[in-house]
Amino acid sequence: MSAEENIEESPEQYFIGKKEDVIQAKRVSKFVNGRDILVIYHEGKFYAMDAHCYHAGGQLENGDIEELNNKLCIVCPSHKYKITLAEGEGIYKASNPKEKNPIPRWFSKGIKQRVHTVLEVGGDIFVKMSEVRGWIESDYYQTEKYRQEKAMC
Ligand code: FES
Repeated sequence: MSAEENIEESPEQYFIGKKEDVIQAKRVSKFVNGRDILVIYHEGKFYAMDAHCYHAGGQLENGDIEELNNKLCIVCPSHKYKITLAEGEGIYKASNPKEKNPIPRWFSKGIKQRVHTVLEVGGDIFVKMSEVRGWIESDYYQTEKYRQEKAMC
């Protein structure tokens, strides 16, 4: 099944802010439709993803953005996991110690962070929530269970 077949027909859109305000802020976190969403403006493009890192709920809002393996990534400030902005793919660099001359290479863990679609409409920025079905690891940090656990810490 392709990614397109997983997307429902009428996704809802949520207002994030005025385009110029989002550009100036560069990062905007907002609670929309039961999720904490992070909208990022970087080098002329907008991105949106779940605001809490798939690894352990780190605040991606405070992460650096770096180009790694030819992809723009946010680096989680908690444990430095790298997540591609456009796809939500977890990537890591490693070398195989069994190789004669181990060379570090980039590897993919697959899609780990739920990403959303950013829309510009008449000078406003909206987010269309991801409707990709199935569990994506960042979903856990959007649950009531996680919010209750966090509140008790
Ligand atoms: Fe993000 Fe651990 S919480 S890397």
